[in-house]
Amino acid sequence: MIKVCGQASIFIALAAVCATAGFAQASGAEPAPAAAAAGSQDDAAKQSFEVVCSGCHELSQATSQHKDLAGWTDTVERMVGYGAPVTAEDQEKIVNYLAATYPATAP
Ligand code: HEC
Repeated sequence: MIKVCGQASIFIALAAVCATAGFAQASGAEPAPAAAAAGSQDDAAKQSFEVVCSGCHELSQATSQHKDLAGWTDTVERMVGYGAPVTAEDQEKIVNYLAATYPATAP
């Protein structure tokens, strides 16, 4: 059995997907859907958050909070002031991730 693109049990469905993907690549279309790219970027932000923000206290210190973008920006800036080891680029990603995942609750 040749494994072309995953499990044999759903081979027929996958074959259709693979054929479509192959066609898209052959015709020079963008192979990676935007949603998948955004998802992996989110994963990277989550990972940075989990590594950086568990250094001094439980992650729940952050995940129990709900703030808007300005609130998370202030908080993360304060954490950087305490010595949180985060690059400017990661800082922005973490702030965006937190604002999207733990947004301020409606009043
Ligand atoms: C260098 C140590 C350190 C690191 C790393 C750190 N924190 Fe903190 N954090 C603290 C200290 C100390 C406090 C308690 C004092 C305070 O609230 O300002 C705190 C409190 C908090 C609070 C509760 C207070 C508030 O403003 O809501 C949140 C939320 C928080 N941290 C989020 C984070 C996030 C998100 C990260 C990752 C970017 C992070 N922390 C990384 C030291 C750190």
